[in-house]
Amino acid sequence: MSEPCAIVVLISGNGSNLQALIDHSSEGGYSIAAVLSNKADAYGLQRARQAGIPTRVVDHREFKDRESFDERLVQEIDAFAPSLVVLAGFMRILSSAFVQHYSGKILNIHPSLLPAYRGTQTHERVLEAGEKEHGVSVHFVTEELDGGPVVLQSVVPVQADDDRDSLAARVFVQEHRIYPKAVSWFASGRLKMQDQAAFFDGTRLGVHGLRENSA
Ligand code: GRF
Repeated sequence: MSEPCAIVVLISGNGSNLQALIDHSSEGGYSIAAVLSNKADAYGLQRARQAGIPTRVVDHREFKDRESFDERLVQEIDAFAPSLVVLAGFMRILSSAFVQHYSGKILNIHPSLLPAYRGTQTHERVLEAGEKEHGVSVHFVTEELDGGPVVLQSVVPVQADDDRDSLAARVFVQEHRIYPKAVSWFASGRLKMQDQAAFFDGTRLGVHGLRENSA
């Protein structure tokens, strides 16, 4: 058996996606070498400690600018020599230097069917627009915010009586299902980024990546 792929997970908050990644790590063929947060009170840090995973806090407020914060992040991350950096609710915009340092080795999860609804408050905006479909995307991170190549999406139908919380709850179920799956694909070498595109089993993926229906 080969060594599991080492990943470092970056969080800022609750860490429910981190929990899903922890729960699926042995079957997924990856191991979480460390969890980093920019917030000392992020609940996800407790989840990590409970699972026996090393944690680090790098508080962005202690740095004069984004670049110096990111330099420290890189130092902390590289100390664990990961093959993949996994953003799981990490609420900081990353500098070009950071993204280039880990080019093709950073994944993010975003609660919309990218390229639609980049940015925040996606559930609210989807409801306001009267969309019939919503969902979640896992994508490689590039310098364009929420703009890197999509790997995997899960479509969540919007129901007539949905409010923000009911819709978010169904999206979260899908987040927790598809993120460990995408990370395990990367770990096994099936998923790659080349020339700003995502490839699965050698096939270049389209704008929506691989798409699944949740229902
Ligand atoms: C999720 O909605 C994720 O898609 C977004 O941030 C949120 C993180 O939630 N990037 P959690 O901390 O994993 O519970």
